[in-house]
Amino acid sequence: MTKIARAYTNIALIKYWGKKDKTYKIPYTDSLSLTLDRFYTDTKSEVINSDKDVVFLNNQELDDSKSLRIRNYLDTVRKMYSFDEHFQINSTNHVPTSAGFASSASGFAALAASINSTMNLDLSKKSLSILARNGSGSASRSIFGGFVQWHAGTNNDTSFAEPIDESPDIGIVLLSVVISKAEKSISSTTGMESSVKTSPFYSNWSTLVASELVEFKQAIANKDLQKIGEISEHNAMSMHALTLSANPPYTYFAPETIQILNIIKKLRNNGILAYATIDAGPNVKIICSKESVQKVKDFIEANITGISTVEAHIGRGIEYI
Ligand code: DP6
Repeated sequence: MTKIARAYTNIALIKYWGKKDKTYKIPYTDSLSLTLDRFYTDTKSEVINSDKDVVFLNNQELDDSKSLRIRNYLDTVRKMYSFDEHFQINSTNHVPTSAGFASSASGFAALAASINSTMNLDLSKKSLSILARNGSGSASRSIFGGFVQWHAGTNNDTSFAEPIDESPDIGIVLLSVVISKAEKSISSTTGMESSVKTSPFYSNWSTLVASELVEFKQAIANKDLQKIGEISEHNAMSMHALTLSANPPYTYFAPETIQILNIIKKLRNNGILAYATIDAGPNVKIICSKESVQKVKDFIEANITGISTVEAHIGRGIEYI
């Protein structure tokens, strides 16, 4: 029987923002993430007697334009592993698509794992991470649970993720504040390309990431959640500075995004552990401790209307069901 591959999404705390090789999605810098337990994708792939792949997302068949990225990816996978089979892909996303939650991370990680299972490729986790990266950079990290580092590398064989600590005992809780479920206007692929090409500050990004990575890994080893929060927030704001300083400039922030950032600062001034990270969308993910999360949630919900919050904990790596 064909197995279902389940991959959880991950949130980058040291962001990937910029590719030096677009074909293989080789980034300029390493990145570091936390895999989450609440948002995931289940994917099943079956070999079909056809020369064209068919893709279903949440039980609906995707038309040619919507399935193009996935069909192109499957062409890459066929080339990498020298087989000709085509597939019917059935994918169910338990992630709000395209609203700053990295659905492409869990999506391509689950798809890579699913093809691995259906075609009996018997790939190591490292090879699976490489395969997932070819679909979407951040997917390389969703192969593993807990804290994960994606090594930038220099080519298709040397750019892969590795776990730092798959079940850290740090008491970290991530509170996702969902402002908008609308599709984002500038994809991360397009956004990062624009930052690389036009932001005068992009040349500093590699230096910053390199030093923040060292500090971050030390903070994990020291179980220092406050330090993890501080570095994460600073790294996220630095990434968003690369969007504001692009030419033409753009931002993923919505008015509520700023409102939430201000609230987080207020909470911190009152001794409550809360730090923000934001991806390519308006939603804010708040790094909390087990002790602070309820207070943060109550305060945010009481002060901003029209939002919802979801609490997530440390998630596991790829699973076959
Ligand atoms: C802001 O992995 O979606 O979430 O490789 O072009 O598919 P592509 O980009 P993607 O970018 C993720 C950007 C980010 C930061 C991160 O996850 O590291």
